[in-house]
Amino acid sequence: MDRIVYIVMDKVIIKAPAKINLFLKVLGRRTDGYHDIHSLFQAVSLFDELEIRISNGPDINLRVSGNSEIPTGVDNLVFRAARLMQDRFGFDSGFEIDLKKRIPVSAGLGGGSADAAATIFGINRLLDLGLDSKAMARLGLEIGSDVPFFFSSGQAEVTGRGEKLNNVELPLDYSILLVTPALAISTKGAYEALKMPLTSPADIIKLFCFKDFKDLVTGLGNFGNDFETRHCELYSELVEIRDALINIGAELFRMSGTGPTMFGLFGDIPEGEGSHQLGRRDWQTDWVNPITLPAWD
Ligand code: C5P
Repeated sequence: MDRIVYIVMDKVIIKAPAKINLFLKVLGRRTDGYHDIHSLFQAVSLFDELEIRISNGPDINLRVSGNSEIPTGVDNLVFRAARLMQDRFGFDSGFEIDLKKRIPVSAGLGGGSADAAATIFGINRLLDLGLDSKAMARLGLEIGSDVPFFFSSGQAEVTGRGEKLNNVELPLDYSILLVTPALAISTKGAYEALKMPLTSPADIIKLFCFKDFKDLVTGLGNFGNDFETRHCELYSELVEIRDALINIGAELFRMSGTGPTMFGLFGDIPEGEGSHQLGRRDWQTDWVNPITLPAWD
C-alpha cells in the first residue's frame, strides 16, 4: 500500500489510515497525568486523504470535507501538527491543507492522529527537512499519544503512553467490520473514570506470534479492552452492536480504543456482507482489511 498518492514540487497528497486496537490494557496512572498502556495496534484500510500545499503567507488554512462537524482551527490535530512544524523549524511559509474525512471522528479509530502523522510527514517531504520516522514519531507524540503508531509498520505492540512501539508480524488473512454508533465518548473522561492507582508498570515481555487468523482469534481470547465492560454498561447501544456482530458470525468482537467503534473479525465476509442485517441505520459500518504500512523514511 502506498501512502503517498501524489507529490510535486509544492504539493503532496497522502492517505492516512485508521487503526484498531486488537486488545488494550491500561496498566496504571502515571505522574504526568497519562496512563501506561499495553496494546496491539493494527492499521486498517479506511483512509482519510490530505492534500498539503505550501503557501506564500504564514497562515495555515485548513478545509475539511466529508464531515461538517470537524473544527478547522487549533482544535484540529492537523492544524496543530502544521503549527508545530512551523514553530519547531522556524519557516515563514504557511500551508493550504485540504482534508477529506472518511474515518469516523472521536471513535477510537485514531483518525485525527493518523491525519496529524500525515501532516508531519507531508511537511517533512515538502520542505525537505530530512526527518526520519523516529524523529517524526517524537514530534507526533507532542500532538497525541496515538500519533507515533502511524510511523510504524502498521502492526505494533504498543506500550508507554503510546510511544513505545515494537513492530510485530500479524496475519492479514481476514476481514474486519467496523461499526460506529453516534455516541460521543471523551478519551480523557474514559481514562479518568478508570480511577487507576499510580503505578510503575513492570517491563512487559510478551512476544506475539500468531501465524494465521485462527491463531490470532485464539490468542486474542486472553486479552480484551479495559474500557469495554464499563462502556457497555453505560451505553446499551454497544451491547446491541456486540450482539449484532455475533449474529452475523464475527469470530471475535471488541471495542477499539476508548470507543465507541466496535469491530468484528471475520475469516470470511458473510453472505450479503452482513452489515445490512445489523439493523440500525444510524450506525456507520465499514468493511476493511488489516494492512501494513510502508516505511516513511
Ligand atoms: O494523547 P491524547 O491527547 O490523545 O490523550 C487525550 C487524553 O487521554 C489525555 O489528556 C489523557 O487524559 C488521556 N490519556 C491517558 N493515557 C494515555 C492516552 C491518553 O491518560 N496513554
